[in-house]
Amino acid sequence: MSDARIRNKLIEMALQARELAYAPYSEYCVGAALLCDDGEIVTGCNVENASYGATNCAERTAVFKAVSMGNRAFSAIAIAGGKKGAQALDYAYPCGVCRQVLREFCDPKRMTVIVCRSVDDYIEMTLEELLPCSFGPENLEG
Ligand code: THU
Repeated sequence: MSDARIRNKLIEMALQARELAYAPYSEYCVGAALLCDDGEIVTGCNVENASYGATNCAERTAVFKAVSMGNRAFSAIAIAGGKKGAQALDYAYPCGVCRQVLREFCDPKRMTVIVCRSVDDYIEMTLEELLPCSFGPENLEG
């Protein structure tokens, strides 16, 4: 991502969103901030459930929120995750399901994924690097 101001904003919003994580079972708290093509930033956190399989990841919370608000094109996402109360955050890479959900709405070569611990400590990749040889909506076109 070339614009450092936008990257900083995404990281700050992902860190903030992480504060809202509902993770009483794993105590692993994740926040995400998704940059929509119109410039809007939509956040999400993980939302766990007593029936563990009903848990939703932070990235998918953000994507589903954005789509339900009318945004279907994204160009970047920042993700901040780590054990609650731990000294340092992890570089919390998105799980396989979240990679595929992002793939539905993004050009993999253009989509930037930022895993971050702070505004000065992050790793940036493309979705294509994280999900090579992917399957997407174009595969289903006549
Ligand atoms: N989690 C996410 O929010 N995003 C991911 O990409 C990986 C995992 C959440 C789900 C669960 O609440 C907790 O982290 C531990 O798996």
